[in-house]
Amino acid sequence: MNKVIRTLKLTTAAAAFSVSAAYAEDVEVLHWWTSGGEAAALNVLKQDLETQGIGWQDMPVAGGGGTEAMTVLRARVTAGDPPTAVQALGFDILDWGNQGALANLNDLAAQEGWDEVVPEALQFFAKVDGKWISAPVNVHSTNWVWANKSVLDANGIAVPETWEDFVAAVETLKAAGITPIAHGGQAWQDATVFDAVAMSAGGPEFYKAAFIDLDEETLGSDTMKEAFDRMAFIRDNVDDNFSGRDWNLATAMVINGEAGFQMMGDWAKGEFLNAGKVPGEDFLCFRFPGTQDQVTFNADQFMMFDQGGTVSQEQAALASAILSPSFQIAFNKVKGSVPARTDVDGSELDACGQQGMKDLAAAASSGNLFGSMAHGHAAPASVKNAVYDVVTAHFNGEYDSETAVLELVDAVSIAK
Ligand code: BGC
Repeated sequence: MNKVIRTLKLTTAAAAFSVSAAYAEDVEVLHWWTSGGEAAALNVLKQDLETQGIGWQDMPVAGGGGTEAMTVLRARVTAGDPPTAVQALGFDILDWGNQGALANLNDLAAQEGWDEVVPEALQFFAKVDGKWISAPVNVHSTNWVWANKSVLDANGIAVPETWEDFVAAVETLKAAGITPIAHGGQAWQDATVFDAVAMSAGGPEFYKAAFIDLDEETLGSDTMKEAFDRMAFIRDNVDDNFSGRDWNLATAMVINGEAGFQMMGDWAKGEFLNAGKVPGEDFLCFRFPGTQDQVTFNADQFMMFDQGGTVSQEQAALASAILSPSFQIAFNKVKGSVPARTDVDGSELDACGQQGMKDLAAAASSGNLFGSMAHGHAAPASVKNAVYDVVTAHFNGEYDSETAVLELVDAVSIAK
């Protein structure tokens, strides 16, 4: 590691941790934020650390949803060389925590009062045996639709409220010769769409029973077949080149007016903003039809790998910067997500961000906030990957809906 000694402007919390007058080490940060919007958000973090005199070694691993990043991480840990900090999601964090690989952030968390400001749903994935093991950056949610406003206006399409409205809107765009749905055929993207489609087809209790409780009867139900039928409709309304396309290129199709809709988590908003587009004027954001009262969430966190006993000063400074209220707003404005703290003022966020915050609070208080299956917050990685396989095979026409349901029951029961 680079032993550059830097001049310091310490934050109060990091200062309390610092006995010497300099940060001796760079932080090496493994992440999968490689699209234009993601990179712009990451820069907010890099710059924040730079002003504190902490050097940044970038370790980007492209691949939305982080599957590839997690493969690289396993190789690094196996080689005895874990990065300082690693972007991670939900059950993956708990796995590493349970293996004892992560540093204990409890002293910093106590000093900064994280217990009081980070919502329970996030703390669940940030602690093992009462120890804080990662720093929550944000809350994303997956049940969003992004639309090109002038395409919708030109075709007389209002925001669809129900699945039937959505089908009608898609048919109208198809008849007008416009690609109705921009999609990238990668397993994690198929699964992201499936989060919303399953919730819409069966409602919140169905979603919970299927993907959180992993109830066999629900997984094998007629409602699940209906969810797969709806996925088949979506498959019929993407363009011919969807296979393997990165999610941000699908977003670009909506930005450029080549397609009407994209179903994607709110990281898609980062791409619109990065292209200079304005919510409500150039693009629309709305909950996937039929899921207006529900939120399927995922939260990015940075796990701090144990570098030999206690948390290092650089790790503490990074975690402290991430949790600071000013960073939470500055970062999430650019990223498309909403803050991971409940005590920050969201009035600086744009209309989609404010709706995101409002929906999140409402869903949490009505019991309609659920972890995203596609993004590792509903079930451990083995189950998530089993669901990915079936959803993708069905999307690519290998299974009809009936077979997909049977395969899903089998795959989940083997994986869990
Ligand atoms: C992460 C987002 C990221 C998206 C696409 C999700 O799993 O939570 O931060 O932008 O994947 O890469």
